[in-house]
Amino acid sequence: LQGVIAAKGTPEEVARIAHGLAADLLKAYPVPLAPGKAPALARGATLFAQNCASCHGMTGDGHGPDAAKLTTPPIAFSEITRARQRSPFA
Ligand code: HEC
Repeated sequence: LQGVIAAKGTPEEVARIAHGLAADLLKAYPVPLAPGKAPALARGATLFAQNCASCHGMTGDGHGPDAAKLTTPPIAFSEITRARQRSPFA
């Protein structure tokens, strides 16, 4: 990977090698990539309302009451394209 980066390989080539290394790492050190059971939605809703909604908004649209005070705007979880690029592990 270092050699390909130093030689200014294509982004696709760098990504292919980096993803291969990540896969090898997970084989060597298996860690869970997602929860083993479905999350408790009611508990999650309570925690979200208490700890996250002030910035991310009750609907996750990024327009909570504290959002305007921030120089970096909170992420809108309702932005479907961005959400699809995220994983439970990330
Ligand atoms: C004080 C305001 C604030 C609170 C409270 C807050 N966030 Fe955020 N959050 C932000 C901001 C601002 C960003 C964007 C940071 C950036 O772009 O660098 C962000 C980004 C994120 C992201 C990244 C999303 C992505 O697509 O990259 C996740 C996930 C997230 N917050 C989850 C949470 C959760 C879960 C909670 C509650 C436990 C929470 N946040 C509480 C302000 C907040």
